[in-house]
Amino acid sequence: MHDITELKQAEARLQQLAGRMRWLTQRVVLAQEEERQRVSRELHDEAGQALTALKISLELIRADLPPEAAALRPNFDDVISLTDATHQQIRLLARGLRPPALDTVGLNLTLEGFCRDFARLTHLDISYTGTESRPLPDTVNICFYRVLQEALTNVAAHAQADRVWVELRCESVRTCLIVRDSGRGFDWQVQTTDRPRAGIGLLGMRERLDLLGGWLAIESTPGQGTRLTACLPVEVL
Ligand SMILES: Nc1ncnc2c1ncn2[C@@H]1O[C@H](COP(=O)(O)OP(=O)(O)OP(=O)(O)O)[C@@H](O)[C@H]1O
Ligand SMILES: [Mg+2]
Repeated sequence: MHDITELKQAEARLQQLAGRMRWLTQRVVLAQEEERQRVSRELHDEAGQALTALKISLELIRADLPPEAAALRPNFDDVISLTDATHQQIRLLARGLRPPALDTVGLNLTLEGFCRDFARLTHLDISYTGTESRPLPDTVNICFYRVLQEALTNVAAHAQADRVWVELRCESVRTCLIVRDSGRGFDWQVQTTDRPRAGIGLLGMRERLDLLGGWLAIESTPGQGTRLTACLPVEVL
């Protein structure tokens, strides 16, 4: 009798601890996102505006070059183009760091919009299907958004794919994001454990999902494309 009571008390404490861990995890994820937004704002406001001012100054100097310095004109053209290109990179970086207003349009439309923008930028042929789920917490939305970002970046960087299919599937016990490509595939074990300078994209995805009680499955065979499935259980919500 005594043992059973103690066991029950221990179980209750464990459950309390698990709840606290989940709460802390969500705080950590949200704090990371806030920090990303801050860096994005700084990049946009500080670096972006400084580069705009730099470009204008260079253009003014170029316009005022005395005739005897005309030979310097092509050098100025090059530096101005470089300033432009750098500014463009910073803009892209700032945008990537900040997920769009997931809370206003919902996960489904946000992911669909991301696929559309990504297809335009990379000329990948991406088909999206998804249904609007019940409202999900920020941590879950952000997790799926980051997973899609990395999955599509990987397709663009490594897959040499003709087609990509993205699906958001809302089931009764879990929500899943599936990204499938028709590219060259890869050997997951070799790519992640045997390479001295392996990337951190797939590992980061797995960690994000683990933190929220979810999982990542990678099915890939060299020459036959890749299918990535990221799921989060509904009870996290
Ligand atoms: N869709 C894919 N098609 C083919 N190969 C892939 C695909 N996704 C990942 N890979 C392979 O798995 C490796 C690991 O991917 P991961 O995202 O972890 O790292 P990375 O993209 O190389 O670098 P990082 O993401 O850190 O910038 C890649 O280098 C690539 O060889
Ligand atoms: Mg990657």
